Amino acid sequence: MRINKYIASSGVASRRKADELIKAGKVKVNGAVLDEPGYDVLAGDVVFVEGKKISLSEKKIYIALNKPTGFVTTASDDQGRPTVLDLLTDIEERVFPVGRLDYNTSGLLILTNDGDFSQLISHPGKGVGKTYRAKVQGIISREKLARLRRGVDIGGFVTSRAQAEIYKELPKHTVVDITIYEGKNRQVRKMFKAIGNPVLELERIAIGEVKLGRLARGSYRKLTAKEIESLKV
Ligand code: URA
Repeated sequence: MRINKYIASSGVASRRKADELIKAGKVKVNGAVLDEPGYDVLAGDVVFVEGKKISLSEKKIYIALNKPTGFVTTASDDQGRPTVLDLLTDIEERVFPVGRLDYNTSGLLILTNDGDFSQLISHPGKGVGKTYRAKVQGIISREKLARLRRGVDIGGFVTSRAQAEIYKELPKHTVVDITIYEGKNRQVRKMFKAIGNPVLELERIAIGEVKLGRLARGSYRKLTAKEIESLKV
C-alpha cells in the first residue's frame, strides 16, 4: 500500500495531510526519514509519524460533536487553548476533526480515524453541503440573499453557488441559514462581511444529511451507519 494511503488508513491524518508530513520529513520507515512520496509499504515495515509508531487500525469510528465556542479544532494549540479532542473523554481511538470550525464558531463537527472518509467530505465541490446558522448584523434584503446564493467576492475568490434562507428576522439582526459546498478559511464570515452584514454568531447545523439536532453543546454521539453512507457521495 502506498505510504500516504497507509498513513490515512492508520487514522493519523488525511491522505493530503500525509503527503505534507512526508514532505516535511516527519515520516520514518525502518528508522530512516522517508524521501520517496510514492513509497509502497511492505509487510514488516515499521512506520513512524512525528515520532509515533503507527499501524493499520481495523476499527473505524465516526463521531458527531457539538463544538462549543472557545475550542480549537487542531490537535494542539500553540496558545494553549482547549481543543475539541479534550471533549472526547471516553474515545480510545485516535481521531481527528474533519475540516475546521473557527474558535468562535459552534456546532456540528465530525471526528474520525478514517482518513479517506475525511478527505471525501472535506473536498470542495464534491456535493457535501455544510449548513450554517448565522446571526448577522442588520437586515438582509432579497437582493442580498440573492447575492449570497449567486456568489460573492471574498477577496480574490468568488464563492460558488450556495443556498441561503432567512430563518428569523429580529429588529436589528437577521438569522440566516446558509449552505456552502466549499470551505475557504472563514468563508461564511467573509461572505456576510462582503455584503455589509457582519456575523455576530455562527453555528454549523448540518453536514450533508447529518444534522446537529438536539445534541447538547460539548457532547457527542456516534454517527449511524446510514449517516456515514449518506456522506460518501
Ligand atoms: N465559515 C466560517 O466563517 N467559520 C467557520 O467556522 C466555518 C465556516
